[in-house]
Amino acid sequence: LKCVKQHLIPFRLSLEKLKVVSTRLRKDMIRGLGKHTHHRAAVKMLPTFVRATPDGTEKGDFLALDLGGTNFRVLHVRVMEEEQKMVKMDSQLCAIPQEIMLGTGEQLFDHIAACLSEFLDSQNLKGQTLPMGFTFSFPCEQKEIDKSILIRWTKGFNCSGVEGEDVVKLLKEAIHRRGDYDISSVAMVNDTVGTMMSCGYRDQTCEIGMIIGTGTNACYMEEMKNVKRVEGEDGQMCINTEWGGFGDDGSLEDILTEFDKVVDRTSINPGVHTFEKMISGMYLGEIVRLVLMKLTEKKLLFKGEVSEALRTKETFETKFISMIEDGLENAKKILTELGLTWDLVDARVVRLVCETISSRSARLCAAALATIVDRIRVNRGLPHLKTTVGVDGTVYKKHPKMQPSMHFLTPDCKIKFLVSEDGSGKGAAMVTAVAQRLALQSRLLEESDGEEDEEEKVRS
Ligand code: GLC
Repeated sequence: LKCVKQHLIPFRLSLEKLKVVSTRLRKDMIRGLGKHTHHRAAVKMLPTFVRATPDGTEKGDFLALDLGGTNFRVLHVRVMEEEQKMVKMDSQLCAIPQEIMLGTGEQLFDHIAACLSEFLDSQNLKGQTLPMGFTFSFPCEQKEIDKSILIRWTKGFNCSGVEGEDVVKLLKEAIHRRGDYDISSVAMVNDTVGTMMSCGYRDQTCEIGMIIGTGTNACYMEEMKNVKRVEGEDGQMCINTEWGGFGDDGSLEDILTEFDKVVDRTSINPGVHTFEKMISGMYLGEIVRLVLMKLTEKKLLFKGEVSEALRTKETFETKFISMIEDGLENAKKILTELGLTWDLVDARVVRLVCETISSRSARLCAAALATIVDRIRVNRGLPHLKTTVGVDGTVYKKHPKMQPSMHFLTPDCKIKFLVSEDGSGKGAAMVTAVAQRLALQSRLLEESDGEEDEEEKVRS
């Protein structure tokens, strides 16, 4: 066991190291926000053009689109002011086969437009043009709420001809190619923003959204005066940090293990989203598999015998990690299914490896979240901050240790976690609803200004 532990040391990050990581992220966030430094920043800090969280008066019917994992979804969402809740009236799921995830952009958007068409037909909605929100969970340079340029694909996607293009335009073109229906404006939303906004309807102190699922990322409400790339000094804007890209400039070199480097090298996007690859569901299982392989080669596991399954990339699923941590019985079952010959010590070692990898993931996320929470505290000049984080993602929800380990780095802040119920679906509707409320308020303001001008004229 001592030899096994030796191999796991590089994954064990001390509190001091996590503080160093947090300080680096703080600096990278400032670089990402800067007018002249953001081009080269690893942490992109993207303006979202979401300028307010819900105030509870939003209402109406909306369409929401959601693309970010292996499925595309369309939802009809009703926001009900009286009950302060969002109800999914109906929805449809369309699988995105791998050949489309790795095909052309045209194929992808044709597929999406077809799915949307089917849904509108089934709901008898084709004549109407409901306001629409599109949760598109990839890094986008937003020019406005309805103009969003894909910087690069992440996670399992790599469709040609989409990077550098406006996603709304590509969607509209696909719909026009069909010609059987049309849409009006579309609010573009990252899943972190959807999560923050959907939690924000229930709890108006929610000003951070975090995802630990297939990928990982967070957004938060930043002061406009610090968002140098967007004009205006007043109020706030939600920033999509894209913290998954932290380390892409080499800043995390000292904590990367040999296994992280293999995961990166063998991924479809080497060199991209370094931090995400140490944390999120798409990669954790593969890290564990590589460690198990190494320990077996060193004759510290399975009497030195690797099975065909263990030798094959991505056969150790991330969900196995939480199952194995849940109990030794699960571990035994999974090891047998993977064609391994194990004894009790092997099962214990595998469990230790799983705990080590998932706890590193949780601690790194906690460090990153602490950085954001503390930034909000400093922005407001407060000695203490109480705030709420809306959270989503299978890794966070399913992993027993993810949640309790999120607090230890923020002594000056009290964080409440709200698990979002389908934030990436309903959240897009909420972003659209808030945008409508703000537009209405500013129209009313202009009208009343106009009336005052009239009065002035009459008086003079
Ligand atoms: C990836 C995407 C990011 C998204 C996250 C969680 O990191 O780049 O936009 O929020 O995954 O889905």
